[in-house]
Amino acid sequence: MEKLLSSLGQVSAIIGAQWGDEGKGKVTDILSEHFQVIARASGGANAGHTIVVNGKKHVFHLLPSGCLHEGKKIFLGGGMVIHLPTLLGEIELLRQSGVDIVPRLRIASHAHLVMDFHKDIDAALEEMRSQGTGSKLGTTKRGIGPAYMDKAGRTGLRVEHLEMDEKVLREIIEGKAGFIESTYGVSVNVKQEVKNILDAKETLWQSIAYEAVSELYDNYANGQTILIEGAQATLLDIDHGTYPYVTSSTTTATGALHALGLPPQSLSSCIGVVKAYCTRVGSGPFFTEAPEEDANRLRERGGEYGATTGRPRRCGWLNLPDVQYATMINGYTHWNLTKLDVLDEEENIPIGVGYGQDGQVVYENLPGWKVSTAGIKEFEELPSQAQQYIHFIEEHTGLPVSFIGTGQGRKEMIIR
Ligand code: IMP
Repeated sequence: MEKLLSSLGQVSAIIGAQWGDEGKGKVTDILSEHFQVIARASGGANAGHTIVVNGKKHVFHLLPSGCLHEGKKIFLGGGMVIHLPTLLGEIELLRQSGVDIVPRLRIASHAHLVMDFHKDIDAALEEMRSQGTGSKLGTTKRGIGPAYMDKAGRTGLRVEHLEMDEKVLREIIEGKAGFIESTYGVSVNVKQEVKNILDAKETLWQSIAYEAVSELYDNYANGQTILIEGAQATLLDIDHGTYPYVTSSTTTATGALHALGLPPQSLSSCIGVVKAYCTRVGSGPFFTEAPEEDANRLRERGGEYGATTGRPRRCGWLNLPDVQYATMINGYTHWNLTKLDVLDEEENIPIGVGYGQDGQVVYENLPGWKVSTAGIKEFEELPSQAQQYIHFIEEHTGLPVSFIGTGQGRKEMIIR
């Protein structure tokens, strides 16, 4: 572990290589112990990061998974869109588990707010899409797209608005309400929206970082270690993903640096998180999606239901061209291969290695191992076919698979 930690350097990012839900939370949680600042950069409560500690499941949507570690500074970056009641709910849940996060929580004042009306607009837009083209995006309905629409339109509310008094807030939101109602048919509960902000102010007023960029930069310049937990994943990136079936933020390593205001050269390593197979929620292309019977088996074994929405995930096989593409964009230095044990019962494991002239995926079939790998902690203890599977990924990507997930728990991980 020591050697691996030193290879990660001062600033490391954890970035999904597929369509999210790769299991970024667990490696973030494990590594958080060894870093001083844990940051989330962009996205919002569309994320659902699950970690299991001592048999207890924790799901975080806005706070980074590392927040369970006492004493770590938790930083929510300026690229995020934050639904205040959700954040307060997470803070309260942690408090009930005996963790008071507020004194070490910093929130960039220029992060945007997701208002309740953004969630309603999200649902209304999905409805319009299904009537128009018949094709919903399958969003999480957490208001992410509409909040980023407001941001790009320069009409958004930001965390700094918590500073404003009630009357000004009411006027701002009332000013938006008419437009929202006439455009989307969504009615805005002005009183509730104002209350959400005022309630949040009571808890969070000391956590707002008005100089967020210089504050994080100072941590960096003073040699503190920073772990960035990416949200969503590369193929959901607004620019580089499978547009329009993407989220509305940047989900890549450079996107995360930008969202935090850290300089490009600050990143010393980037861990690509890749599931041993592949899943996707929502609509959009998925070339290695498995036939129903195989998909059902993977879904049940892997518990592939959305942590945020409970939706069943589409399931299929690992596609190397996808992870190679993600490697180009993110400059990965290490892999975290997750959920290897979900493949334990497979006879053969197809793995996409390229595309034929007809555009269809070309697969190689690797032999399955048909024994349990659950909870294994040493690479050498894995069955030879599982080792072969991992070597195959390393050879085709030129990167070491340094972390291998073999179960849900914090300890069920091979680290090499
Ligand atoms: P939105 O981010 O809610 O607008 O959803 C846009 C697309 O991204 C949908 O296909 C969602 O299912 C997907 N998505 C957003 N966040 C996540 C995530 O954390 N994991 C997996 N898929 C996500």
